[in-house]
Amino acid sequence: MDLIYLACLAYLDPGDEMIISAGSFISARIAGTIMNANIIQIPTREYRHDLERILASITPKTKLIYLDNPINPLGTIVNRKELAEFMAQLPEHVLVVLDEAYAEYITSRDYPRGLDFYNQNYNILVLRTFSKIYGLAGLRIGYGFARPEIIQTLMKVRLPFNANRAAQVAAIAALSDTRHVKRSRQVNEAGKAMFYREFKRLKLFYLESYANFVFVNFTVDSSLIFDILQRKGVITRTVKEYGFPTALRVSVGREPENRRFLKALNETLAYLRISTPAAD
Ligand SMILES: Cc1ncc(COP(=O)(O)O)c(C=O)c1O
Repeated sequence: MDLIYLACLAYLDPGDEMIISAGSFISARIAGTIMNANIIQIPTREYRHDLERILASITPKTKLIYLDNPINPLGTIVNRKELAEFMAQLPEHVLVVLDEAYAEYITSRDYPRGLDFYNQNYNILVLRTFSKIYGLAGLRIGYGFARPEIIQTLMKVRLPFNANRAAQVAAIAALSDTRHVKRSRQVNEAGKAMFYREFKRLKLFYLESYANFVFVNFTVDSSLIFDILQRKGVITRTVKEYGFPTALRVSVGREPENRRFLKALNETLAYLRISTPAAD
C-alpha cells in the first residue's frame, strides 16, 4: 500500500489523470484522490479489467494506470497475451503500476509475470507484498521493482526508514520458506474448491478466483448477510464501495474455518429464507 501511495505522490500533480478499474483495490483510488488527481474509473467487463477501454481512455494528462492482477475484490486476472498486447500499446508518458499482491497464490500458467515486462524495459512498476501468502501483514512490508529512473523518482518522496529492520529480517526469511508458500497455496486451492461446490449447491453466483478470497453474490443487500455472519463469529467483507451492493468477499481459510463459514452461511440463508435447493 505504501508503494501505491509513493507512486501517486511521485507521479501525480493536481489535475493529472489516473486510470483505474471501477472494481479495483480501493486504496489506489484513495491515494490518487488525495493527490487531487482526476480519477478515471473504467467499468470492469465481465468482472475483469477492460484493457481496451483503459487504453482508449488515455489522454496527454494520463500519468498513472493502476492494475491489480488479480483484481481485489473480484479475484479475476488479465492473462499473459492480454497484458502483453496492452503494454505494447502503452504511450511513453504513462506509468503502469501492476499490483501483484496475490501472485504467489496463482497456479495458472496463463498468469502474466510483471517481471517479464520489467525485463522488456517497459514503463512499469511491479508491486509485491508479504501481507498475503507470507502472512506478515502486521509487519507492513512489501517491495516493488522498476527501471532505475522510476525507482529514483519514488526515492525522492519515500520517507527514510519506511521499512523497519524487523520486517526486513522477517521478509528475507519468508522468501526462503518455500514449504509454507506451497502448503498455503494448496490449502487455498482446496478451500476455494470447497466454496465453489457449496455455492453451486446453493445456486449462488460466484467468480472463480485466482486469489485467496472469493466474490459471491446474493439477491439481497449484503449487509444483512454480513451482520448475521458476524454475529455467528464469521467476518466477511461487503464490497459496496466497489459498486456491488449485494455481494460479499470471503477470504479462504483453513478447512475448519471454511466449514464454519459455510455452516453459518447456510443458517443465515435459511433464516433470511433466501431460496436454496433445500428450501425449493
Ligand atoms: C491488490 C492489493 N494490493 C495491496 C494490498 C495491501 O498490501 P499491503 O498489506 O502490503 O499494504 C492489498 C490488500 O488488501 C490488495 O488487495
